[in-house]
Amino acid sequence: MQATQGKVVIEEIKAGSYGVFFGDSAYKKLRYYLDTHGYSKVFIAVDENTQSLCLPYFLYRTELSNCEIIPIQSGEENKTLGGCIQIWHALTRLRADRKSALLNLGGGMLTDIAGFAATTFKRGIDFIHIPTTLLGMVDASIGGKTGLNLGVLKNQIGAFSNPSMVLIDPRYLQTLPEREYRSGLAEMIKYGLGLDEALYRELQAYPQFTTERRDNLIWRCAKLKTRIVNEDFREEGLRKALNLGHSIGHAIEALFLKRRERLLHGEAIAVGLIAEAYLSYKLNYLEKGELIQIRDFIRRIYPGVNFEKKDFQSIKSQLKHDKKNLRDARNFSLIRGIGHCELDVHIPEAFIDEALRYYQGG
Ligand code: GLY
Repeated sequence: MQATQGKVVIEEIKAGSYGVFFGDSAYKKLRYYLDTHGYSKVFIAVDENTQSLCLPYFLYRTELSNCEIIPIQSGEENKTLGGCIQIWHALTRLRADRKSALLNLGGGMLTDIAGFAATTFKRGIDFIHIPTTLLGMVDASIGGKTGLNLGVLKNQIGAFSNPSMVLIDPRYLQTLPEREYRSGLAEMIKYGLGLDEALYRELQAYPQFTTERRDNLIWRCAKLKTRIVNEDFREEGLRKALNLGHSIGHAIEALFLKRRERLLHGEAIAVGLIAEAYLSYKLNYLEKGELIQIRDFIRRIYPGVNFEKKDFQSIKSQLKHDKKNLRDARNFSLIRGIGHCELDVHIPEAFIDEALRYYQGG
Protein backbone atom coordinates (compact mmCIF):
# COMPACT_ATOMS: atom_id res chain seq x y z
CA MET A 1 0.00 0.00 0.00
CA GLN A 2 1.13 3.53 -0.73
CA ALA A 3 1.50 5.97 2.12
CA THR A 4 0.32 8.95 0.05
CA GLN A 5 -3.04 9.78 -1.43
CA GLY A 6 -5.20 12.66 -2.67
CA LYS A 7 -6.66 15.35 -0.46
CA VAL A 8 -8.91 13.75 2.11
CA VAL A 9 -11.58 15.31 4.25
CA ILE A 10 -10.63 14.83 7.86
CA GLU A 11 -13.72 14.73 9.96
CA GLU A 12 -15.48 12.91 12.68
CA ILE A 13 -19.09 12.20 13.49
CA LYS A 14 -20.87 10.90 16.52
CA ALA A 15 -22.93 7.72 16.10
CA GLY A 16 -24.74 7.38 19.42
CA SER A 17 -22.05 6.76 22.01
CA TYR A 18 -19.09 6.30 19.67
CA GLY A 19 -17.17 8.27 17.10
CA VAL A 20 -16.73 7.54 13.41
CA PHE A 21 -13.38 9.00 12.33
CA PHE A 22 -12.21 9.53 8.82
CA GLY A 23 -8.77 9.86 7.25
CA ASP A 24 -5.27 10.24 8.61
CA SER A 25 -6.09 11.86 11.92
CA ALA A 26 -8.26 8.86 12.83
CA TYR A 27 -5.18 6.78 13.68
CA LYS A 28 -4.16 9.23 16.38
CA LYS A 29 -7.69 9.10 17.81
CA LEU A 30 -7.58 5.33 17.83
CA ARG A 31 -4.20 5.21 19.50
CA TYR A 32 -5.31 7.74 22.10
CA TYR A 33 -8.48 5.76 22.73
CA LEU A 34 -6.57 2.53 23.29
CA ASP A 35 -3.94 4.21 25.47
CA THR A 36 -6.53 5.82 27.72
CA HIS A 37 -8.91 2.90 28.21
CA GLY A 38 -6.57 0.61 30.13
CA TYR A 39 -7.09 -2.47 28.01
CA SER A 40 -5.42 -5.61 29.34
CA LYS A 41 -4.76 -6.89 25.83
CA VAL A 42 -5.50 -5.79 22.28
CA PHE A 43 -6.50 -8.34 19.64
CA ILE A 44 -6.78 -7.75 15.92
CA ALA A 45 -9.18 -9.87 13.85
CA VAL A 46 -8.09 -10.20 10.22
CA ASP A 47 -8.90 -12.43 7.28
CA GLU A 48 -6.29 -13.90 4.95
CA ASN A 49 -6.52 -10.84 2.67
CA THR A 50 -6.40 -8.10 5.27
CA GLN A 51 -3.65 -9.92 7.17
CA SER A 52 -1.27 -9.63 4.23
CA LEU A 53 -2.56 -6.46 2.54
CA CYS A 54 -3.80 -4.19 5.33
CA LEU A 55 -2.36 -5.28 8.66
CA PRO A 56 1.25 -4.14 8.06
CA TYR A 57 0.04 -0.64 7.17
CA PHE A 58 -2.39 -0.58 10.10
CA LEU A 59 0.37 -1.55 12.55
CA TYR A 60 2.70 1.02 11.02
CA ARG A 61 0.11 3.81 11.35
CA THR A 62 -1.02 2.94 14.86
CA GLU A 63 2.45 1.95 16.10
CA LEU A 64 0.77 -0.85 17.99
CA SER A 65 2.91 -3.72 19.17
CA ASN A 66 2.17 -6.62 21.51
CA CYS A 67 -1.20 -7.31 19.88
CA GLU A 68 -2.43 -10.80 19.21
CA ILE A 69 -3.72 -11.57 15.73
CA ILE A 70 -6.91 -13.60 15.28
CA PRO A 71 -7.27 -14.97 11.74
CA ILE A 72 -10.77 -15.48 10.35
CA GLN A 73 -11.60 -17.21 7.08
CA SER A 74 -13.09 -14.72 4.62
CA GLY A 75 -16.33 -15.35 2.71
CA GLU A 76 -20.01 -15.08 3.55
CA GLU A 77 -20.22 -18.89 3.77
CA ASN A 78 -17.95 -18.68 6.81
CA LYS A 79 -20.12 -16.17 8.69
CA THR A 80 -21.47 -19.01 10.79
CA LEU A 81 -21.73 -20.10 14.39
CA GLY A 82 -18.76 -22.41 13.67
CA GLY A 83 -16.69 -19.39 12.58
CA CYS A 84 -17.75 -17.51 15.68
CA ILE A 85 -16.80 -20.43 17.96
CA GLN A 86 -13.31 -20.33 16.44
CA ILE A 87 -12.99 -16.66 17.43
CA TRP A 88 -14.19 -17.42 20.98
CA HIS A 89 -11.63 -20.26 21.19
CA ALA A 90 -8.84 -18.03 19.92
CA LEU A 91 -9.71 -15.33 22.46
CA THR A 92 -9.77 -17.94 25.21
CA ARG A 93 -6.47 -19.54 24.14
CA LEU A 94 -4.82 -16.12 24.01
CA ARG A 95 -6.18 -15.29 27.47
CA ALA A 96 -8.54 -12.47 26.62
CA ASP A 97 -10.42 -11.10 29.61
CA ARG A 98 -13.25 -8.65 30.01
CA LYS A 99 -10.88 -5.69 29.72
CA SER A 100 -9.58 -6.85 26.33
CA ALA A 101 -10.36 -5.05 23.09
CA LEU A 102 -10.89 -6.60 19.67
CA LEU A 103 -9.99 -4.50 16.62
CA ASN A 104 -11.79 -5.75 13.51
CA LEU A 105 -9.76 -5.09 10.36
CA GLY A 106 -11.77 -6.24 7.38
CA GLY A 107 -14.94 -6.04 5.35
CA GLY A 108 -18.59 -6.42 6.31
CA MET A 109 -18.39 -10.17 6.84
CA LEU A 110 -15.51 -9.79 9.28
CA THR A 111 -16.97 -6.84 11.19
CA ASP A 112 -20.33 -8.66 11.47
CA ILE A 113 -18.93 -11.93 12.83
CA ALA A 114 -16.14 -10.48 14.96
CA GLY A 115 -18.51 -7.81 16.32
CA PHE A 116 -20.90 -10.58 17.32
CA ALA A 117 -18.10 -12.70 18.83
CA ALA A 118 -16.91 -9.71 20.90
CA THR A 119 -20.46 -8.86 22.00
CA THR A 120 -21.03 -12.35 23.36
CA PHE A 121 -17.54 -13.20 24.69
CA LYS A 122 -17.57 -13.06 28.51
CA ARG A 123 -20.82 -11.08 28.18
CA GLY A 124 -19.17 -8.50 25.98
CA ILE A 125 -15.77 -6.94 25.34
CA ASP A 126 -15.04 -3.68 23.55
CA PHE A 127 -14.52 -3.80 19.80
CA ILE A 128 -13.48 -1.28 17.18
CA HIS A 129 -14.16 -1.52 13.46
CA ILE A 130 -11.60 -0.60 10.83
CA PRO A 131 -13.45 -1.37 7.58
CA THR A 132 -11.21 -2.20 4.63
CA THR A 133 -13.90 -2.56 1.94
CA LEU A 134 -16.18 0.03 0.43
CA LEU A 135 -19.21 -1.86 1.74
CA GLY A 136 -17.76 -1.85 5.22
CA MET A 137 -16.94 1.87 5.08
CA VAL A 138 -20.32 3.09 3.87
CA ASP A 139 -22.59 0.63 5.62
CA ALA A 140 -21.64 -2.45 7.65
CA SER A 141 -19.26 -0.84 10.16
CA ILE A 142 -21.74 1.83 11.26
CA GLY A 143 -24.97 1.19 13.11
CA GLY A 144 -24.22 -1.64 15.51
CA LYS A 145 -25.55 -4.59 13.55
CA THR A 146 -23.53 -7.70 14.34
CA GLY A 147 -24.47 -11.19 13.30
CA LEU A 148 -24.17 -14.57 11.66
CA ASN A 149 -25.95 -16.49 8.95
CA LEU A 150 -28.02 -19.52 9.91
CA GLY A 151 -27.59 -21.96 7.05
CA VAL A 152 -28.45 -19.85 4.04
CA LEU A 153 -30.53 -17.37 6.05
CA LYS A 154 -28.62 -14.12 6.07
CA ASN A 155 -27.94 -12.44 9.42
CA GLN A 156 -30.59 -14.56 11.11
CA ILE A 157 -28.64 -14.58 14.37
CA GLY A 158 -27.31 -11.34 15.75
CA ALA A 159 -27.37 -8.51 18.21
CA PHE A 160 -27.52 -4.75 18.01
CA SER A 161 -24.22 -3.85 19.61
CA ASN A 162 -22.17 -0.74 19.01
CA PRO A 163 -18.43 -0.64 18.44
CA SER A 164 -16.39 1.70 20.63
CA MET A 165 -15.09 3.49 17.54
CA VAL A 166 -15.03 3.25 13.74
CA LEU A 167 -11.95 4.27 11.75
CA ILE A 168 -12.48 4.83 8.03
CA ASP A 169 -9.37 5.09 5.87
CA PRO A 170 -10.17 4.85 2.14
CA ARG A 171 -6.51 4.06 1.50
CA TYR A 172 -7.40 0.41 2.19
CA LEU A 173 -9.47 0.46 -1.00
CA GLN A 174 -6.19 0.23 -2.94
CA THR A 175 -6.14 -3.42 -1.86
CA LEU A 176 -9.67 -4.18 -3.05
CA PRO A 177 -10.46 -6.02 -6.30
CA GLU A 178 -12.77 -4.05 -8.60
CA ARG A 179 -15.53 -6.63 -8.14
CA GLU A 180 -15.53 -6.07 -4.36
CA TYR A 181 -15.45 -2.32 -4.90
CA ARG A 182 -18.56 -2.51 -7.08
CA SER A 183 -20.23 -4.61 -4.42
CA GLY A 184 -19.92 -1.71 -1.99
CA LEU A 185 -21.08 0.75 -4.62
CA ALA A 186 -24.49 -0.98 -4.60
CA GLU A 187 -25.03 0.22 -1.03
CA MET A 188 -24.15 3.77 -2.08
CA ILE A 189 -26.67 3.54 -4.93
CA LYS A 190 -29.21 2.35 -2.36
CA TYR A 191 -28.60 5.46 -0.22
CA GLY A 192 -29.04 7.65 -3.28
CA LEU A 193 -32.23 5.96 -4.50
CA GLY A 194 -33.91 5.85 -1.12
CA LEU A 195 -32.63 8.93 0.64
CA ASP A 196 -30.63 11.41 -1.40
CA GLU A 197 -31.34 12.16 -5.04
CA ALA A 198 -28.28 14.42 -5.46
CA LEU A 199 -26.06 11.57 -4.26
CA TYR A 200 -27.72 9.22 -6.75
CA ARG A 201 -27.04 11.66 -9.61
CA GLU A 202 -23.39 12.04 -8.56
CA LEU A 203 -22.92 8.29 -8.55
CA GLN A 204 -23.81 8.22 -12.25
CA ALA A 205 -20.24 9.40 -12.90
CA TYR A 206 -18.89 5.97 -11.85
CA PRO A 207 -16.20 4.85 -12.75
CA GLN A 208 -14.90 8.36 -13.42
CA PHE A 209 -14.32 9.37 -9.80
CA THR A 210 -11.24 11.21 -8.65
CA THR A 211 -9.86 9.96 -5.34
CA GLU A 212 -11.06 13.15 -3.72
CA ARG A 213 -14.59 12.78 -5.13
CA ARG A 214 -14.71 9.12 -4.10
CA ASP A 215 -13.60 9.89 -0.57
CA ASN A 216 -16.16 12.64 -0.25
CA LEU A 217 -18.91 10.31 -1.46
CA ILE A 218 -17.83 7.69 1.09
CA TRP A 219 -17.88 10.22 3.87
CA ARG A 220 -21.27 11.48 2.75
CA CYS A 221 -22.71 7.95 2.89
CA ALA A 222 -21.15 7.34 6.30
CA LYS A 223 -22.75 10.55 7.56
CA LEU A 224 -26.12 9.59 6.05
CA LYS A 225 -25.99 6.20 7.72
CA THR A 226 -24.97 7.75 11.02
CA ARG A 227 -27.85 10.22 10.90
CA ILE A 228 -30.30 7.40 10.31
CA VAL A 229 -29.04 5.06 13.02
CA ASN A 230 -28.92 7.95 15.46
CA GLU A 231 -32.62 8.52 14.81
CA ASP A 232 -33.70 4.89 14.71
CA PHE A 233 -31.11 2.50 16.08
CA ARG A 234 -33.44 -0.49 16.44
CA GLU A 235 -34.97 -0.22 12.98
CA GLU A 236 -38.48 0.61 14.04
CA GLY A 237 -38.97 3.28 11.38
CA LEU A 238 -36.54 5.31 9.27
CA ARG A 239 -33.72 2.73 9.38
CA LYS A 240 -35.93 0.41 7.33
CA ALA A 241 -35.08 2.69 4.40
CA LEU A 242 -31.64 1.04 4.43
CA ASN A 243 -33.32 -2.23 3.51
CA LEU A 244 -34.15 -0.96 0.04
CA GLY A 245 -33.09 -3.64 -2.44
CA HIS A 246 -32.38 -6.05 0.42
CA SER A 247 -35.66 -8.02 0.56
CA ILE A 248 -35.18 -9.54 -2.88
CA GLY A 249 -31.41 -9.05 -2.65
CA HIS A 250 -31.07 -11.26 0.45
CA ALA A 251 -33.32 -13.90 -1.12
CA ILE A 252 -31.07 -13.98 -4.20
CA GLU A 253 -28.00 -14.16 -1.98
CA ALA A 254 -29.53 -17.12 -0.11
CA LEU A 255 -30.25 -18.87 -3.42
CA PHE A 256 -26.58 -18.57 -4.41
CA LEU A 257 -25.36 -19.64 -0.96
CA LYS A 258 -27.54 -22.72 -1.31
CA ARG A 259 -26.10 -23.43 -4.75
CA ARG A 260 -22.59 -22.75 -3.38
CA GLU A 261 -22.04 -20.28 -6.20
CA ARG A 262 -20.13 -17.11 -5.44
CA LEU A 263 -22.22 -13.97 -5.54
CA LEU A 264 -21.16 -10.86 -3.66
CA HIS A 265 -23.60 -9.08 -1.37
CA GLY A 266 -23.70 -5.95 -3.52
CA GLU A 267 -24.26 -8.02 -6.68
CA ALA A 268 -27.35 -9.52 -5.07
CA ILE A 269 -28.45 -6.07 -3.87
CA ALA A 270 -28.10 -4.76 -7.43
CA VAL A 271 -30.67 -7.39 -8.51
CA GLY A 272 -32.83 -6.39 -5.54
CA LEU A 273 -32.63 -2.69 -6.46
CA ILE A 274 -33.81 -3.32 -10.02
CA ALA A 275 -36.59 -5.70 -8.97
CA GLU A 276 -37.73 -3.42 -6.14
CA ALA A 277 -37.58 -0.37 -8.43
CA TYR A 278 -40.00 -2.35 -10.60
CA LEU A 279 -42.27 -2.90 -7.58
CA SER A 280 -42.08 0.85 -6.86
CA TYR A 281 -43.18 1.53 -10.44
CA LYS A 282 -45.92 -1.08 -10.18
CA LEU A 283 -47.34 0.78 -7.17
CA ASN A 284 -47.07 4.12 -9.01
CA TYR A 285 -44.28 5.38 -6.77
CA LEU A 286 -41.90 5.71 -9.74
CA GLU A 287 -42.29 6.92 -13.33
CA LYS A 288 -41.56 4.41 -16.10
CA GLY A 289 -38.69 6.60 -17.32
CA GLU A 290 -37.12 6.62 -13.85
CA LEU A 291 -37.43 2.84 -13.63
CA ILE A 292 -35.69 2.38 -16.98
CA GLN A 293 -32.94 4.82 -16.05
CA ILE A 294 -32.31 2.98 -12.76
CA ARG A 295 -32.26 -0.40 -14.51
CA ASP A 296 -29.88 0.81 -17.22
CA PHE A 297 -27.52 2.47 -14.74
CA ILE A 298 -27.31 -0.61 -12.52
CA ARG A 299 -26.99 -2.97 -15.48
CA ARG A 300 -24.10 -0.87 -16.81
CA ILE A 301 -22.16 -1.60 -13.61
CA TYR A 302 -23.11 -5.17 -12.68
CA PRO A 303 -23.03 -8.31 -14.76
CA GLY A 304 -26.39 -10.10 -15.09
CA VAL A 305 -27.15 -12.57 -12.31
CA ASN A 306 -28.51 -15.87 -13.57
CA PHE A 307 -31.55 -17.46 -12.04
CA GLU A 308 -34.45 -19.17 -13.71
CA LYS A 309 -38.20 -19.31 -13.45
CA LYS A 310 -37.87 -22.54 -11.47
CA ASP A 311 -35.94 -20.54 -8.81
CA PHE A 312 -38.79 -18.07 -8.24
CA GLN A 313 -40.45 -20.31 -5.66
CA SER A 314 -37.26 -20.67 -3.66
CA ILE A 315 -36.69 -16.89 -3.79
CA LYS A 316 -40.24 -16.26 -2.58
CA SER A 317 -39.96 -18.73 0.26
CA GLN A 318 -36.71 -17.02 1.37
CA LEU A 319 -38.65 -13.77 1.49
CA LYS A 320 -40.86 -15.32 4.17
CA HIS A 321 -37.81 -15.58 6.44
CA ASP A 322 -36.94 -11.94 5.93
CA LYS A 323 -36.34 -10.32 9.31
CA LYS A 324 -38.38 -7.33 8.17
CA ASN A 325 -41.54 -9.40 7.98
CA LEU A 326 -44.04 -9.25 10.77
CA ARG A 327 -46.74 -11.92 10.84
CA ASP A 328 -45.69 -13.21 7.42
CA ALA A 329 -46.54 -10.08 5.41
CA ARG A 330 -43.87 -9.19 2.89
CA ASN A 331 -42.69 -5.82 4.17
CA PHE A 332 -40.72 -3.95 1.56
CA SER A 333 -38.98 -0.61 1.63
CA LEU A 334 -39.57 0.91 -1.81
CA ILE A 335 -38.55 4.03 -3.74
CA ARG A 336 -41.17 6.79 -3.70
CA GLY A 337 -39.61 9.08 -6.29
CA ILE A 338 -35.81 8.98 -6.47
CA GLY A 339 -34.30 10.06 -3.14
CA HIS A 340 -37.34 9.08 -1.05
CA CYS A 341 -38.51 5.88 0.52
CA GLU A 342 -41.85 4.29 1.35
CA LEU A 343 -41.64 1.89 4.29
CA ASP A 344 -43.60 -1.23 5.26
CA VAL A 345 -45.16 -1.87 1.88
CA HIS A 346 -47.06 -5.12 1.58
CA ILE A 347 -46.43 -6.81 -1.76
CA PRO A 348 -48.66 -9.54 -3.20
CA GLU A 349 -46.83 -12.66 -4.32
CA ALA A 350 -47.75 -12.24 -7.99
CA PHE A 351 -45.95 -8.87 -8.12
CA ILE A 352 -42.74 -10.55 -6.98
CA ASP A 353 -42.87 -12.93 -9.95
CA GLU A 354 -43.32 -9.92 -12.22
CA ALA A 355 -40.42 -8.07 -10.60
CA LEU A 356 -38.12 -11.07 -11.04
CA ARG A 357 -39.19 -11.40 -14.65
CA TYR A 358 -38.51 -7.68 -15.14
CA TYR A 359 -34.99 -8.17 -13.85
CA GLN A 360 -34.53 -11.03 -16.29
CA GLY A 361 -35.56 -8.72 -19.10
CA GLY A 362 -38.96 -10.32 -19.63
N1 GLY B 1 -27.28 -2.47 6.45
C1 GLY B 1 -28.52 -1.95 6.85
C2 GLY B 1 -28.52 -1.44 8.24
O1 GLY B 1 -27.51 -1.32 8.86
O2 GLY B 1 -29.57 -1.14 8.76
